[in-house]
Amino acid sequence: MTNQIRLLAAALLSAAAALAGAAFHPGQLWPDNNGVHVNAHGGGLLYHEGVYYWFGESRDGRGTRGVSCYSSRDLYDWKDEGLALTMTADGPSSVISRGNAIERPKVIYNRKTRKFVMWFHTELRGRGYDAAQTTVAQSDKAAGPYAVVRSLRPDAGTWPLNMPAGQKEGPIPAGVLRQTSKEWLAAATDGGIVRRDFKGGQMARDMTLFVDDDGIAYHIHASEENATLHISQLSDDYLSFSGKWVRAFPGGHNEAPAVFHWKGKYYMITSGCTGWTPNAARSGVADAMLGEWHALRNPVRGSKEQTENTFESQSTYILSVQGKPGAFIFMADRWRPQNHADGRYVWLPIQWEGDKPIVQWMDEWSLKFFD
Ligand code: DGJ
Repeated sequence: MTNQIRLLAAALLSAAAALAGAAFHPGQLWPDNNGVHVNAHGGGLLYHEGVYYWFGESRDGRGTRGVSCYSSRDLYDWKDEGLALTMTADGPSSVISRGNAIERPKVIYNRKTRKFVMWFHTELRGRGYDAAQTTVAQSDKAAGPYAVVRSLRPDAGTWPLNMPAGQKEGPIPAGVLRQTSKEWLAAATDGGIVRRDFKGGQMARDMTLFVDDDGIAYHIHASEENATLHISQLSDDYLSFSGKWVRAFPGGHNEAPAVFHWKGKYYMITSGCTGWTPNAARSGVADAMLGEWHALRNPVRGSKEQTENTFESQSTYILSVQGKPGAFIFMADRWRPQNHADGRYVWLPIQWEGDKPIVQWMDEWSLKFFD
């Protein structure tokens, strides 16, 4: 498509949307202001001074190109702001060189430093998912450009707050453990992988960020060979780890964590671990981010297929809609690993069954749902 045709298509689409009333269409193409499908996978949203910013993996045939940024005032129409962080052609010494993988970027705003802080899961070329590290970058402007501050494994040299003293010593697994093997489950249950990674830092794969009402931010990541989630408090400037952290659902085998806070409770929706193939979502609740997390049921309500594959998608973020207390949007990726750029987005409103969050399919819906 030439640029002119794209622009015309975008103008027609937004005119049609205005006539029809703007709406979300989960799973369908989502054209931006240029008529191009939004390329922000594994993403998250930031609201700042009247504008929502959507950050995600910008993908092409060669992998991740960087972190894309789109802006919107209404959550339906998105303007392409370009790459907030661009992967470089530098050699392997740069953590953001092409060939490495950047996944699930999230951005938060630090009120004290007035900086925008981005974290993302990082893997190194040729090493599969073994590096399991996280990278932090910073910018003065929401849309970037972001400059890398450091890349690391979290919480080196500190024990989780909820690890029994007796587990701080014990056998150390030799090398990488096969996920779901007996050894893997045993090491997750008795803290062996935490002991193994104590010195060098804990593994960090699928991740999200959450800022609490008191301004304290948390980095939530799949750790211990994906066996256990870690919830790590960030430092005041959000650029490193404070050393306070907990393990959640040891041996639970969770990925794709997404967190929100409502009426004094913290809720989490996650997926299981089946690569790019969707699986059944899970949920959990806690009284505090660093508190004790309790598993709830699969939050998806619908057909057998929908509950088993989460509407063919995997959680990435839960957005608190501005100006609508109690309005939360579950955001998920319908991955297309053969052509990642074509991956679709499934956004659905969080609903409630008593005090438990649930998600149901809708072909089309709008923010009026929350009125
Ligand atoms: C599932 C994860 O949630 C994705 O972010 C990605 O890491 C894929 N696994 C890779 O297979």
